[in-house]
Amino acid sequence: MTKITYIENNGKTHVIEVANGLSVMEGAVQNDIPGIDADCGGSMACATCHVYVKEEWLNKLSKVEDSEQDMLDMAFEPKKNSRLSCQIIVTDELDGLVVTTPPKQS
Ligand code: FES
Repeated sequence: MTKITYIENNGKTHVIEVANGLSVMEGAVQNDIPGIDADCGGSMACATCHVYVKEEWLNKLSKVEDSEQDMLDMAFEPKKNSRLSCQIIVTDELDGLVVTTPPKQS
């Protein structure tokens, strides 16, 4: 289990233990975290799982693939620390990861 901190756009914080091998999106959905709807179920077709990753964690994540970048380009207010949480797989190395949901996702 890996500790992931989800911060809603209103500042409400949820610290959740997520099983390794799940995505950060799946950890949110299973724990009813508001703001990560994941309408497409993780197939990179919706961007409703868009999160901002705390900068210090960015280089610990897998590279953004072109198809993920295409969806992020269509997401609300993408930033350079934007990721689709369905594409971040939880591992021991991500223990302590912090992600924030963008405005409009609640
Ligand atoms: S759940 Fe749809 S793009 Fe991530």
